[in-house]
Amino acid sequence: MTDLSTPSQEHAQPASRSSVGPPLWLLAELTYRCPLHCAFCYNPVNYTDHRDELSTAQWIDVLQQARKLGAAQLGFSGGEPLMRDDLEALVAEAHRLGFYTNLITSGVGLTEARLGTLKANGLDHIQLSFQDSTQELNDFLSSTRTFDLKNRVARSIKAHGFPMVLNCVLHRYNLPHVDKIIDMALAMGAEYLELANTQYYGWAHTNRAQLMPTAEQLREAEAVVERYRKEIGNRCKIFFVVPDYFETRPKRCMNGWGSVFLGIAPDGAALPCHSARSLPGLTFPNVKDTSLEHIWFDSDAFNRFRGFEWMKEPCRSCDEKSKDLGGCRCQAYLLTQDAANADPVCDKSAHHEQVVRVVRDAARRSETLAPDEQPVTFRNDANSRRLTASTRETAAASRDEGTQP
Ligand code: FES
Repeated sequence: MTDLSTPSQEHAQPASRSSVGPPLWLLAELTYRCPLHCAFCYNPVNYTDHRDELSTAQWIDVLQQARKLGAAQLGFSGGEPLMRDDLEALVAEAHRLGFYTNLITSGVGLTEARLGTLKANGLDHIQLSFQDSTQELNDFLSSTRTFDLKNRVARSIKAHGFPMVLNCVLHRYNLPHVDKIIDMALAMGAEYLELANTQYYGWAHTNRAQLMPTAEQLREAEAVVERYRKEIGNRCKIFFVVPDYFETRPKRCMNGWGSVFLGIAPDGAALPCHSARSLPGLTFPNVKDTSLEHIWFDSDAFNRFRGFEWMKEPCRSCDEKSKDLGGCRCQAYLLTQDAANADPVCDKSAHHEQVVRVVRDAARRSETLAPDEQPVTFRNDANSRRLTASTRETAAASRDEGTQP
């Protein structure tokens, strides 16, 4: 049961300005609209509940306030940020303000003309996502036909002189292709390749049983990455982000709640992490009615999990707590229904067995079920509405039974 509303945590104290640094990394999620339907999308499953989008003027105001607060890195993300036709204007303003800017895109809508304008307006960097090195799997996982288009876009990005990060989310389906994915990145001239093992939030959490790899798949992929790193040196820097379900200590999520990351959702909700919207009992302030300064330093949502005061055992007395800060609040909630619990990835958590069980079940499923016997739920409006309605019904039923506050 969540106890986010227990009295001790009901209103976190505003942070003292001297103990909290500025939000260094601003993520502008311009829209939840997206032409792709990826099974591992981290957007909230109930994104159809949040259709409003900030206007151009409101986004510009956000950029100006964030820069004034000290933010230096700016990611334009979504959904697909190219769905906004004011992206070029926002990039121009961000460049004028002195941000280092990164466009995080599927490539759909990135025409020659738009690339030219984005370059002229000062965009620094582009992160292009692929789902796999094969057309078949790329198109299956995004439920679109976009593989050829992405290849064309990758060439254009290089032709316009942008540094390029190729991003590929890894899971059970494409881990055996890691060598081919690296070959593809090298052939495209990517400066960086981010092989990001799926983190199980949003739609990836919905599809966790289908996407979870086996430990053996991970070990083999890691060995391939190591071999390539030795062979290619600095030609392309490969990041391999290990999925934390296979660890015994949690990640220092977002480098700490309200520490350096500030996300603004399409409708203006300010979030301490991408998935925070899934946490019940927290009200996220909106840039439409509150200044970023007040949100960052004084809001209950941003202060709720700062520091150590909110921690319960075993985190509270743990000698490693300043290393991992108790792990990920969203994962703690998703797996234990209490965001103030230790992240159950930690083997000191009383709930760690759940993580072990998920990994064990995944191994069993991969031995006994073929991929086409394990249907995937794609991110689309119909599924969002259906899953949101069913979550609401379950919550209402629990309330009626008195099992939820
Ligand atoms: Fe929300 Fe980790 S994703 S705290």
